[in-house]
Amino acid sequence: MIVLDRENQIFHLQGPSYSYILCVRQGILMNMYWGRRIPEGNHADLFTLAGEGASFDSPMNRAPREVLTQEKGYFGQRSLGLKNAGGDDVVSLRYQDSRVRAGKKALPGLPASYAESEEEADTLEIDLRDEVSGAAVTLSYTVFRDFDVLARSMSVRNEGGEPLTLTEAQTSVPLPGDEYEIIFLKGAWARERQAQRIPMPQGNFSIQSRRGASGHEHNPFLALVRPQTTEHSGDVYAMTHVYSGSFSASVDVGIDGAPRMMIGLCPDVFSWQLDPGESFQAPEALLAYAPDGLNGLSHRMHSFIRRRICRGFWRDRPRPVLINNWEATYFDFNADRLAEIARRGAEIGCELFVIDDGWFGKRDTDNCSLGDWKVNENKLPGGLKALTDRISALGMQTGLWFEPEMVSPDSDLYRAHPDWCLHVEGRERTTARNQLILDLGRREVQDYLIESVSSILRSASISYVKWDMNRNMTEGFSSVLPASRRMESQHRYMLGLYRVLEEITAGFPRVLFESCSGGGGRFDCGMLYYMPQTWTSDDTDAAERVRIQYGTSLLYPCSSMGAHVSAVPNHQTGRVTPFHTRCNVAMGGNFGFELDLTRLSEEDLRCAREAVARVKKLRNTLQQGEYTRLISPMDGRGRSAWQFTDGQRVIVCIYQDAASPNPQPWHVKLAGLRENAVYEDEEHALKCSGGALMNIGIPVPRAGKDHESWVYCFETGK
Ligand code: GLA
Repeated sequence: MIVLDRENQIFHLQGPSYSYILCVRQGILMNMYWGRRIPEGNHADLFTLAGEGASFDSPMNRAPREVLTQEKGYFGQRSLGLKNAGGDDVVSLRYQDSRVRAGKKALPGLPASYAESEEEADTLEIDLRDEVSGAAVTLSYTVFRDFDVLARSMSVRNEGGEPLTLTEAQTSVPLPGDEYEIIFLKGAWARERQAQRIPMPQGNFSIQSRRGASGHEHNPFLALVRPQTTEHSGDVYAMTHVYSGSFSASVDVGIDGAPRMMIGLCPDVFSWQLDPGESFQAPEALLAYAPDGLNGLSHRMHSFIRRRICRGFWRDRPRPVLINNWEATYFDFNADRLAEIARRGAEIGCELFVIDDGWFGKRDTDNCSLGDWKVNENKLPGGLKALTDRISALGMQTGLWFEPEMVSPDSDLYRAHPDWCLHVEGRERTTARNQLILDLGRREVQDYLIESVSSILRSASISYVKWDMNRNMTEGFSSVLPASRRMESQHRYMLGLYRVLEEITAGFPRVLFESCSGGGGRFDCGMLYYMPQTWTSDDTDAAERVRIQYGTSLLYPCSSMGAHVSAVPNHQTGRVTPFHTRCNVAMGGNFGFELDLTRLSEEDLRCAREAVARVKKLRNTLQQGEYTRLISPMDGRGRSAWQFTDGQRVIVCIYQDAASPNPQPWHVKLAGLRENAVYEDEEHALKCSGGALMNIGIPVPRAGKDHESWVYCFETGK
């Protein structure tokens, strides 16, 4: 609901459990409040503007403005940067007008959250303008009736007579008070999204990607919490970016100790020329406040991402159990070998066989053929059709890997179009994994990709696509842009990629798409808008995966995470974990296998078959239920636990790193159950009240070996 008090110029945005209040003072749009929902009414008397009369500081420096521009003594980080024709960057935005619309409009060319009907959301649009330059800004705020997430975006129009250059386009919010800690997700290839919590400094804390992808290093996510906030209680303020390219997310703490939190395009690799009459639409940011701790934040974000970012046929459907050949064969396969693995997969109940890299061009290693999307008939005689027919005969569907955004210097595509890659004339074209990146800002490149991927998908019965992207941008510039627009290259690339993804996913609406970027190097809401799941990490080691999936779950739902059982010793870490533990951890995401099933022992095959049956039985709860973190693997004790609930069923997964001699007994306390309801786990002969499970907890059995794990499944409602 959006309540407008036009007389006092106050805008009260009310979600199911939050309030977000804006007001206009001296013509400037200010943020009065963001936090727990409060009743409607005139709160203007409670709002003070700090900083009056403070020496060496100006009121503007402390004003809680919604858009942070350089003017009248604002010394902090900007969220909107505009270079005027005269070379200065002063921008004085003043309130012009506002309106409320039912529903939510799509953002042109960009992924964004959506409303399914006009009744379920309202959008407030506020117009601001700088009289001197003619820069006109429209801020858009969408409040959802059923979701506790606020969607915000900004567009900028040049209504003046001179060109302007946009140098910063971020969404910023000033937060109340000064006592916070910062949570973010840091990482690297094979170590993605490790949750990190640090004190908030005076000054600036920022994370970025300049890589042309959201990246492995930092996820586009930032949360501010109170020092006493836990998984189950306390304030959380969080932001994420519905975008897959370079980003910046920061907390800028002013002289008064009050933080301004922001997220948006990375200013180091972005600028955009706005000629008179032109507009620019910045990507959307999602804002969420939770009064009930980090799990409260995750519950809100998970349901929103699952149902108002992800789209399409697969959004609410159970995801297939798959078997992928990458770690089973790498490039070394032929049709018979693949069919043999698929046959074993079918025997244990897998539903989808995914042919990973190496099926096209002359690709037997990673140094060639990207761009040549033609099947390698030496490896797969009769083409894809012959192989998919064999797989269909086993009762399984077929999936296929692509890396469409890339080109190998050793490819027919590169030989025909050496200028189609991102590069700088006269400089070396730096390869990574022996490949270059196509300039997706160019229409002809986009069209080539749409046609070449579509024609493969038309050529055989393919029901799943793994869309990979295995390097970051260097010399990331388009050769067809004039010098004054070169810094637009990265964002134009993203707009081109989004067009390609929109066309292909709309053209094949029943195909399940999973994105990937060297594992989880592009795990963000931008990609999830086109593809409802992402390959979480190339690290399939169960012990590592507990931490990766745990961190990922702060923001992203389990239905968005690909999670596979792989061989031991693990290919990334050399670690040996029990087969059932690998299954129990992979159950925390979209379950699959990535190993040579033809080499499994009878015992492991039995375990695999049981795991598949269990996942199929429980996957509605695992993929669509509410996920709650119970014990963190990051607290140094080597234990972790999480739970899934759908009201009727509670699934609890417990994991322990190292066994110890003569151990202290420990319990896992569940969360969010009904106090007086009776919950029963027949397999473990446990039957007790929700109150007992939440306060006494499940007694964890003694671990007889390292990397032990347990799964409990309670039913209630009887
Ligand atoms: C990337 C992906 C892997 C696999 C390989 C194939 O590294 O993350 O899962 O698909 O590419 O080359």
